[in-house]
Amino acid sequence: MKQNSYRRLEGIFQDEEYAPKGAKRWSWGRPVRYIMREQRILFILVGMVLATTFFVLQPSLLLSQDNDTMGYTENLSTIGHRRPFTRNFRDRMNHMEVLNPGAKLPLGLRRSPHRILVTGGAGFVGSHLVDKLIERGDSVIVLDNFFTGRKSNVKHHLGNPQFELIRHDVVEPILLEVDQIYHLACPASPVHYKHTPVKTIKTNVMGTLNMLGLAKRVGARFLLTSTSEVYGDPFEHPQRETYWGHVNPIGVRSCYDEGKRTAETLTMDYHRGANVEVRIARIFNTYGPRMCIDDGRVVSNFVAQALRRQPLTVYGDGKQTRSFQYVSDLVEGLVQLMESEHIGPFNLGNPSEFTMLELANVVKEVIDPQAKIEFKENTADDPHKRKPDITKAKNLLHWEPKITLEKGLPLMVEDFRQRIFEDPMGL
Ligand SMILES: NC(=O)c1ccc[n+]([C@@H]2O[C@H](COP(=O)([O-])OP(=O)(O)OC[C@H]3O[C@@H](n4cnc5c(N)ncnc54)[C@H](O)[C@@H]3O)[C@@H](O)[C@H]2O)c1
Repeated sequence: MKQNSYRRLEGIFQDEEYAPKGAKRWSWGRPVRYIMREQRILFILVGMVLATTFFVLQPSLLLSQDNDTMGYTENLSTIGHRRPFTRNFRDRMNHMEVLNPGAKLPLGLRRSPHRILVTGGAGFVGSHLVDKLIERGDSVIVLDNFFTGRKSNVKHHLGNPQFELIRHDVVEPILLEVDQIYHLACPASPVHYKHTPVKTIKTNVMGTLNMLGLAKRVGARFLLTSTSEVYGDPFEHPQRETYWGHVNPIGVRSCYDEGKRTAETLTMDYHRGANVEVRIARIFNTYGPRMCIDDGRVVSNFVAQALRRQPLTVYGDGKQTRSFQYVSDLVEGLVQLMESEHIGPFNLGNPSEFTMLELANVVKEVIDPQAKIEFKENTADDPHKRKPDITKAKNLLHWEPKITLEKGLPLMVEDFRQRIFEDPMGL
């Protein structure tokens, strides 16, 4: 069989002359027909749509623009900090929404609500922060031992399913499932922290350790509210974040100053050693409604004294300077820092500087021009000058305070007037 077929083939090749095919003439019809066959056009279109989507949403484009225009670099990778692509991207979208709440985000990229723990959330700053977080749709758990905080500061949220209030001392550990922790628990006024100095340093050290441990365990981002007191009685003026401070380690204020310095150290060690995402804010003097009346802080002192028709007490010669930021400015800064890519520390304060005498005169103008000023001996370790350099926060967080003392003070006076004269039980 096989031999026969070979012979037939041989015959074919012997009889027929070899004639190569002539070159085909070019025509537009062939490539068009090729593309139209087997749904190739559909695949090409799908590819183009995918490529366009990728380049429009590419996060690195946003990132490079952010860093380049700011002239600041805080290289997270140098301290072993790497975050997954999706987390980075989502955070950046969140940050865009925080910076510009009305901004339209691409469909499906809107910020999903967080579950947020606020320690010290029944206090002055904490309660305003809770208002802001609930207003933007997050769920908030407040932990507070009510040492200086009051339930009445958050009572308007009781009954709201987005809000929980737990009486708890941060010196004791606790386990909660949260995405972010704003750690504010700590008495902030000298009258309170000097009253229980050992408890103050325990709160700063053990309380911060417990909250960092919680952040590590549940993978939450942690923000520490540190203080301008870490600069002590400064040799550098205004104070930049790079200044290491001039603090008395054995004085009556050290439980607070050194406590906060240790809290910063713990925060950075948990970041470097355990990869916890952290943020550090150094807060300068803040005032506003819900401050503790009679807590010894200068603004609340002056306002309460002027309302009660008492002389305003100025310690020393009254030439010490401070800068005062309104509480809503601080809350904006804290939220912007939490949502940003930057660890800090960041100074959050109002750089407008006032002497104590100038402040007393503004309070007189707003409340009682007839009020008298009384001078008393200055307290130990009272810093002579305090004014933040906020260049870093301006450049990296695009944050700066907006409310002047003349605008903010009347809002606080109204709250104090109501609490002193109409609702003294609410003190
Ligand atoms: N207000 C300012 O001018 C200022 C300036 C610098 C830093 N800070 C920091 O900001 C944070 C808030 O300050 P604030 O002015 O709202 O003070 P605040 O005293 O009004 O609030 C502190 C809150 O923490 C709670 N607390 C204290 N110890 C606690 C503990 N062991 N466990 C649980 N809760 C506890 C208090 O009951 C209170 O509700 C503090 O960490 C403070 O150091 C504030």
